[in-house]
Amino acid sequence: STSDSNPTNGFCSVEYDGELSSSSGRILIKQGTVVNAHHMEVADVYIEDGIIVSVRPNIAVGDDVKVIDAAGKYVMPGGIDPHAHLEMDFMGSVTIDDFYTGQAAALAGGTTMHIDFVNPSNGTLSAGFASYKVKAEKSVMDYGFHMVITKWDDAISEEMELMVKENGINSFKFFMAYKGSVMINDELLLQGLEKCKSLGALAMVHAENGDGVVVGQRRMIDLGITGPEGHALSRPPVLEGEATARAIRLASFVNTPLYVVHVMSIDAMEEIAKARQSGQRVIGEPVVSGLTLDESRLWNSDFTTAAKYVMSPPIRKAGHDIALQNALAAGILQLVGTDHCTFNSTQKLLGYGDFRKIPNGVNGIEERMHLIWDTMVESGKITASDYVRITSTECAKIFNIYPRKGAILEGSDADVIVLNPNASFRISAISHHSRSDTNVYEGRTGKGKVEVTISGGRVVWEDENLKVTAGSGKYIKMPPFGYLFNGIDQADARYLASLNAPVLR
Ligand code: URP
Ligand code: ZN
Ligand code: ZN
Ligand code: ZN
Repeated sequence: STSDSNPTNGFCSVEYDGELSSSSGRILIKQGTVVNAHHMEVADVYIEDGIIVSVRPNIAVGDDVKVIDAAGKYVMPGGIDPHAHLEMDFMGSVTIDDFYTGQAAALAGGTTMHIDFVNPSNGTLSAGFASYKVKAEKSVMDYGFHMVITKWDDAISEEMELMVKENGINSFKFFMAYKGSVMINDELLLQGLEKCKSLGALAMVHAENGDGVVVGQRRMIDLGITGPEGHALSRPPVLEGEATARAIRLASFVNTPLYVVHVMSIDAMEEIAKARQSGQRVIGEPVVSGLTLDESRLWNSDFTTAAKYVMSPPIRKAGHDIALQNALAAGILQLVGTDHCTFNSTQKLLGYGDFRKIPNGVNGIEERMHLIWDTMVESGKITASDYVRITSTECAKIFNIYPRKGAILEGSDADVIVLNPNASFRISAISHHSRSDTNVYEGRTGKGKVEVTISGGRVVWEDENLKVTAGSGKYIKMPPFGYLFNGIDQADARYLASLNAPVLR
């Protein structure tokens, strides 16, 4: 009944009507503990036509309203994944999850919105945007876009303005690695940072020293190390620390906010900590893989098992994961992404005999909410409110769509989950909803289970059943000049004033 090719991935339970509970569009979630980033209280949540209408104790409703009993459970804003790559053309392959299967998987795991990265097509941003709009037509949940910048000229600069002013994009990503394909140099990064600043758009960086990576790869190949472990050995934390520091300093020089995607190492995290301590606006995004896995898996003698863990920057030695968790708990890092960029085992085989050709990327869009609950809340490192902040609210604030998203408030979009802290989850490629035939979290179990997902006011996940409707997801335009731009003007004014200060002799 569906377009998925893997008969064991749970899609057989998908129905297409989207009616039943939503024919009236009225839902009451009763007696749950409503968790926002700012507050927690036992209350009912009443939803009508895709919007949260009321949040207070003891709401009375008629018989035509679907009632969900949430006593003893947490009612929270659906997760927002700031970082995913659905149906992306990359390293000679296309990621296996598209806007249908990837988003369906997300909903089954309690994520109700994601922000994907649009790559330019034929050298233009407009063509790239148009092609992603088509890819996203089958969306089953709301989504937004970041745009990747890979070259520089007047046309690109003009198009950036168009993307921000007409197309709802407020962030641009620059790759400091992947030499020979999407990598940019410092000159382009500086031009990009200045343009971003003028548009009120957030600059994002993939921070690894791409020249260093090529040298490191050559070193491994010369030593005869061609397997997946060569991936980790060729691009150590020092290259990530260097590029993170460089991007931070260039952003400071331009005086514009910076967002560092997939922070994987202590080295990069410490650069972010230092910059934030000095007052600079730097956001650090760890991803689930970096928070919960370590590099030992890349040494597995079975190629398929090891290759599924290949992503960039690499998953690091044990110890980096814990340090990143602690930095997240301490507020040094602000929100969690997945970098969901899934290739199945036949696609990963492209790099058999040469780790440089293994398509980079791991899954996570379905697993993020569960693994972060178990790793961070169940473990006692953070509170449920902090969990909402790092999985949803902070993302909505950074990308300027709060409180429409990221909150359980009257007037917010009805993207809501019910999590049972006493139930358990178990992750496996047999039962997941991704189209991939592998899962980097295979066999993991933990506490805390998303039992209900409501997306746009419709119950899409309940009793382990997914009920999604292709085309029901909306494109969420994200306006420029989010909160990270507050104060930038004043700092610029101070700088200009200092230039005119009398010179003392
Ligand atoms: O390995 C990764 N991270 N693949 C996705 C592309 C990127 O660098 O974000
Ligand atoms: Zn099926
Ligand atoms: Zn990246
Ligand atoms: Zn990515």
